[in-house]
Amino acid sequence: MKILLLGGPGAGKGTQAKFLSRILDIPHISTGDIFRDNIRRATPLGLKVKSILNEGLLVTDELTNEIAKARLLEEDCIKGYILDGYPRTIFQAQYLDSLLDELGDKLDFVLNVDSSDECIIDRLSKRRSCPECGAVYHLDNTPPKNDGVCDHCGEMLVQRADDKPETVKDRLDIYHQQTKPLLDYYQAKGCLINIDGERKVEPILEDILKIIGVK
Ligand code: AP5
Repeated sequence: MKILLLGGPGAGKGTQAKFLSRILDIPHISTGDIFRDNIRRATPLGLKVKSILNEGLLVTDELTNEIAKARLLEEDCIKGYILDGYPRTIFQAQYLDSLLDELGDKLDFVLNVDSSDECIIDRLSKRRSCPECGAVYHLDNTPPKNDGVCDHCGEMLVQRADDKPETVKDRLDIYHQQTKPLLDYYQAKGCLINIDGERKVEPILEDILKIIGVK
């Protein structure tokens, strides 16, 4: 099954994608995670994109398409995947369409996790992430067992550089200008399904599972 999750920064895409990946046993492909992993390992790609991510700007379409294509051609994607954070511009969506055409493939579900800017600002201000294993917490909703420490690997949690309030504002502006038009793009193709993302994690997941026919 091939699922694309759309939604603003901090809408909850990654949270849902992690559950879906476990339940469906298919990879969770987040271009943001790929970039952050490269930054952590100080690879040439990581060095190239570090300041772009920290400032909340978008990596170029050409580079992002190249990274996404390489990942989608890996063997574990044959049985399906969950795309989170890619595509993020119309150009990227058109590129993905042509890649899928070439492969004789298509997305089964395009789901928009719909959360307001106010909800996003609150969630991102209280998000804490593990720089080592990528686990994500929320100070009120899903806090770690021990303050500031990752439950999974014991690493100290951090606030992502792009979760600082002034950067979140820029990310939201970019989302509205460059990514939100994808909703019309997929609506016109007749495959967009909106999901109320302002509820607790569990009812959102339940809805998604019903939509994709797993429950
Ligand atoms: P990326 O990592 O994709 O960031 P994003 O899209 O801004 O999304 P986030 O990871 O911030 O949020 P999310 O929706 O996954 O929310 P989460 O589940 O964590 O991209 C980062 C950067 O990489 C970009 O800015 C850009 O520079 C670059 N990049 C990546 N892809 C690119 C592309 N295609 N093109 C160009 N550049 C690209 O939830 C947020 C918080 O809320 C968490 O604390 C969570 O615990 C909590 N939460 C989640 N759901 C709920 C709920 N239902 N109720 C209460 N709390 C909740």
